[in-house]
Amino acid sequence: MHNIVESLPSWWYHSAQVFKQEQEKIFAKQWIFVAGASDLKNRGDYVTTEIAGRSIIVIVNDNNELGAFYNLCRHRASPLCPKTQGNIPMFICPYHSWSYGLDGSLKGAPGFVLNAEDGTGLNTGDYGLIKIRVSSWNNLVFACLDENGPSLEDWLGDISVIAERFPSLEGMVFERLLENEGAMNWKTYSDNSAEGYHCLRCIEN
Ligand code: FES
Repeated sequence: MHNIVESLPSWWYHSAQVFKQEQEKIFAKQWIFVAGASDLKNRGDYVTTEIAGRSIIVIVNDNNELGAFYNLCRHRASPLCPKTQGNIPMFICPYHSWSYGLDGSLKGAPGFVLNAEDGTGLNTGDYGLIKIRVSSWNNLVFACLDENGPSLEDWLGDISVIAERFPSLEGMVFERLLENEGAMNWKTYSDNSAEGYHCLRCIEN
């Protein structure tokens, strides 16, 4: 005999309004997996992805550390990196060529004087790329839009202890991303992934 657990109301699975709230209350608050560490090994390696509808960049900086930023130029908010993955020596905006170092600092802005002593022009300290929290664990890279949330370590909690019972992901290479598109909400897919009923049938048969 199994306990019956009711699923969510059906309209939650297709309501744009519910999804908007989920973006802000769940995905914008949590650590989200963004890349395998094997994609971010060398200075200038970057990946772009989306968290809660915002485009972000994760990149290896000059100190071989991970950095993450919103994928938006500070001038007119053009996306800086249109590709999903690559290697760049610095960020150069495709719109009007503002340039940024791999640490996100503004390096050049054609037509503007930078850091003028008389206070005119642009202060580069005010126009660096907007940073996002980034951290890695077990060869997996995560980013978080919420500045005030827990550390990745605290957020993972017991998962890191449980993972010790399994082979390390160290040395594994990210192979490919599988995308399934359909007229469905993300919860339909995750519910189905967590669904054990079909497995139970296999065992019982
Ligand atoms: S929008 Fe990037 S330089 Fe103008």
